[in-house]
Amino acid sequence: MPPPCLMLDSRDGVDGMMCRTSLSPDRCQMNADTGADYLRPWKLGKAIEGTGIGLVEQSEFEGLAPGDIVRSFTWPWQLRSTLPGASLNKIDPAIVGGHVSHFLGAVGLSGLTALLGIRVKGHIRQNANQTVLISGAAGSCGHLAGQIARLEGAATVVGICGSEEKCRVLVEELGFDGAINYKKKNVEAELQSCCPRGIDVYFDNVGGDISNSVIRQMNEGGHIVLCGQISQYNKDVPYPPPLLNDIEQVLHQRSITRERFLVLHYQERFAESVAQLAAWLADGKLKLISQMNMVLTLCMKWQAYRLHATCSNK
Ligand SMILES: NC(=O)c1ccc[n+]([C@@H]2O[C@H](COP(=O)([O-])OP(=O)(O)OC[C@H]3O[C@@H](n4cnc5c(N)ncnc54)[C@H](OP(=O)(O)O)[C@@H]3O)[C@@H](O)[C@H]2O)c1
Repeated sequence: MPPPCLMLDSRDGVDGMMCRTSLSPDRCQMNADTGADYLRPWKLGKAIEGTGIGLVEQSEFEGLAPGDIVRSFTWPWQLRSTLPGASLNKIDPAIVGGHVSHFLGAVGLSGLTALLGIRVKGHIRQNANQTVLISGAAGSCGHLAGQIARLEGAATVVGICGSEEKCRVLVEELGFDGAINYKKKNVEAELQSCCPRGIDVYFDNVGGDISNSVIRQMNEGGHIVLCGQISQYNKDVPYPPPLLNDIEQVLHQRSITRERFLVLHYQERFAESVAQLAAWLADGKLKLISQMNMVLTLCMKWQAYRLHATCSNK
């Protein structure tokens, strides 16, 4: 079965073929206000958008030429589309051994979010004996954030996720010191046993009750990386969702920072960050939970097949 490819024909200069797209939990795009200025709300009757990668077939846009592989964070899911050349970034799969799909994960938005979230808001220091807690830890950002926290100097890294198998992978394959299955265990009690010195840095992907339990066990001067609040996205609340009074008090009394983090506010650091992530991948220091099997060449073959079939039928 050939992979689905999206064809793009552009009146503003770039014709390309869409070969990969990402299913990310941007549930907020179903709201009138996404809460993030870089994400447009999905509109009824219009193609939904996500991060996508494609091959340029024709271009009048300066800096892009046929054969270039490009990425957009707002690529519509449709067979034919018009994309502004300025919304496309040229990517070089060679830096990740030709694994184009890594640009949707480890060196894409997830990897950049994990790395820049940790570096910008995490305040992790070498030899500072810090304990870092990651929620949504087996997700696309979370499994990278935990490993990056360790690489940046965290002494103890613990994850929270939703199954025993995910817990096993985090600990046995990715080197987390502990993992808590929030669906089966008492999170508060487990945190006490996994993080006996308290929690210094919290990379928060989920919000809600899990985050309340984590924040109650945070140390003086701790830092929260407010990455996402996935447990709250289906609720009719503003982003970030309001905190309980007692949690606000904990933050205030213990001087814990909790500033909103948006990765696309740090685009000037993307190139250096992609290089860092690619180097860690190449050295085997950063491991991935899963890899897509489809490769760009399959898309290209499918495209060639479609063109051949179209021409033969004429
Ligand atoms: N700030 C930024 O710039 C930025 C950029 C990208 C993404 N994000 C945010 O980062 C977060 C993670 O994104 P991702 O791409 O890593 O997503 P992902 O791969 O889908 O992972 C999300 C994880 O959250 C867990 N989860 C889902 N619902 C939950 C709930 N109600 N309670 C607890 N856990 C729940 C899921 O697994 P289990 O339930 O099995 O644990 C899942 O593994 C999201 O909140 C997203 O909006 C932020």
